[in-house]
Amino acid sequence: MVVEQTLSLIKPDGVARGLVGEVIGRFERAGLKLKAMKMLHLTKQQAQKFYEVHQEKKFFDSLTDFMSSGPIVAMILEGQGAILKNRELMGDTDYQKAAPGTIRADFARDIEANIVHGSDAPDTAEKEINFFFNELERI
Ligand code: TYD
Repeated sequence: MVVEQTLSLIKPDGVARGLVGEVIGRFERAGLKLKAMKMLHLTKQQAQKFYEVHQEKKFFDSLTDFMSSGPIVAMILEGQGAILKNRELMGDTDYQKAAPGTIRADFARDIEANIVHGSDAPDTAEKEINFFFNELERI
């Protein structure tokens, strides 16, 4: 398996509910290495840009309101097969379909406020990492 980097976000609900340490602990215990990290508060416009692939969806306005409603934590995670590994740790988008023991199954109670975001493919990982981190912020 190749070493990959992926973009992980702890969404406003995860930060507000005090789950930052819990989520990062799960990543670290699974062997994913933190390569960059910061806390920030997206504007509505920045949230719209980040989720532009969903702009035609009916949940777009609500999703971007939510994503700009409070601080988030952005991270670059690195490891063998990191993109899929992170997605497995997160669980299904819909917490009701997420496998037991995943972050979303354990903590999410809503399809929109589902604690975490993770890139879903190498091309989106690169795009999303560049959205949040410049060269100086990456190790
Ligand atoms: P998506 O990219 O499909 O899921 P994932 O976060 O697992 O990659 O959707 C992005 C976010 O949009 C998702 O985390 C929560 C929100 N969302 C809704 O609010 N309603 C929905 O029906 C779907 C599919 C997603």
